[in-house]
Amino acid sequence: MRFFLFIASLCTVAVATEGLRCLQCRGKSIEECDLSASVELCSFAEASCETEVRRVQVGSELKVVGVSKQCKQKQACEANEAQNQMKSGPSTQCNEDQSNSVCRCCCNDDLCNEGPLTCTKMESDPLPPAPAKLQSLTCPQQQATLYHGQYSCTDGEEPGSVCNYSCNGEYEVYPSSDISNTCHQNGSWEKPMPCCARPCPEYLLYDYVQLFHASSWENWLALLNMGDSITYHSRWGPESFQGSAVFFSDRVHEETLIQFKESNYNETKFLELFSERLIDIDFDKMGQRVNTATALWYASNYLFRERVGARDRRVPKMLAVITDAESHQDVQAAAEALRRDGILTYVYVYRNDITKFDQAQLSHLAGDKNHIYEVQDGGT
Ligand SMILES: *[C@@H]1O[C@H](CO)[C@@H](O)[C@H](O)[C@H]1NC(C)=O
Ligand SMILES: *[C@@H]1O[C@H](CO)[C@@H](O)[C@H](O)[C@H]1NC(C)=O
Ligand SMILES: *[C@@H]1O[C@H](CO)[C@@H](O)[C@H](O)[C@H]1NC(C)=O
Repeated sequence: MRFFLFIASLCTVAVATEGLRCLQCRGKSIEECDLSASVELCSFAEASCETEVRRVQVGSELKVVGVSKQCKQKQACEANEAQNQMKSGPSTQCNEDQSNSVCRCCCNDDLCNEGPLTCTKMESDPLPPAPAKLQSLTCPQQQATLYHGQYSCTDGEEPGSVCNYSCNGEYEVYPSSDISNTCHQNGSWEKPMPCCARPCPEYLLYDYVQLFHASSWENWLALLNMGDSITYHSRWGPESFQGSAVFFSDRVHEETLIQFKESNYNETKFLELFSERLIDIDFDKMGQRVNTATALWYASNYLFRERVGARDRRVPKMLAVITDAESHQDVQAAAEALRRDGILTYVYVYRNDITKFDQAQLSHLAGDKNHIYEVQDGGT
């Protein structure tokens, strides 16, 4: 059997476009707001940082009573800022001479809304002491583990911290240029965290069930010698290949069954189970009928299920029928049910002078003539 599909287990690297960052806070004064501020990553549509300051008259002066800072859509922010000059009472909304005042300012650079209002002068409000310099920005927490690898950073998520990534065994850092990373002073990582991936081409991702039938011991030996039928040319592993097998005649011989979960992705284990259960078939106890459809239904209703170790729908499924005799049952409905479930079916027929096969039946079974392999007595 040849496989043309090779699957690299590459990770998806989400590339985030960094947006504007603004202080986000609410407080009773500029200082209180800034001290409790978080850094908000603005959405794509928000291109401004806004500061809003409300004041009311206390005694003879206007006193700041409410400050809020956030990301804002540019147009919305500018419309708010324009309100400063709008008529309200004897003067404007943002004023120095009434019992209350609302002022708003916009700016468009990272963290530009730190500190007092930048677009108005508020004479009656003494400049607050320069706000404690915002804590240096830490970088976002990275994924706690690097699957199939490890990483370490000189200083966690602190600015200036440098991380190194490395992968185990056959895994390599992907993308390969990203084996180290730095947390910039502005709180963003130099690049996204990489992942560990295995290189092409050996890892074929499949759940593979084999249904075996032979009519005699001689033919069974010949079938086993086809060799390829029990050798997969692909790596076994939780992220790649696994096999399940059973022998059938008039019925499915469950004493020969190897379920996916029994071999636990281990080819050596599978071959051990194969020689325990499938080599020494007692042909005296086999029924003479060949009920291939029964075996196909058994595969579709049981062997390809997650409870016996098959993986979910994302893992491709493959079925091989390996036989030396025509089915006595009509196979079409069962074969089509498997195909509807996305299971690729292959047929390997062992042919000698006395066996014959109905081509229409083989076509129904395989669904595609390229999925039919014939093995003549004495070689392929
Ligand atoms: C990262 O790798 C560099 C170069 O190999 C090395 O000098 C440095 O000590 C490593 N840092 C950590 C945190 O492992
Ligand atoms: C952060 O700083 C780095 C290096 O100075 C720069 O390349 C990057 O664009 C900055 N990111 C943001 C979001 O400002
Ligand atoms: C695979 O199975 C064999 C035989 O049972 C066992 O010796 C071996 O340790 C297993 N390998 C792994 C990686 O579990």
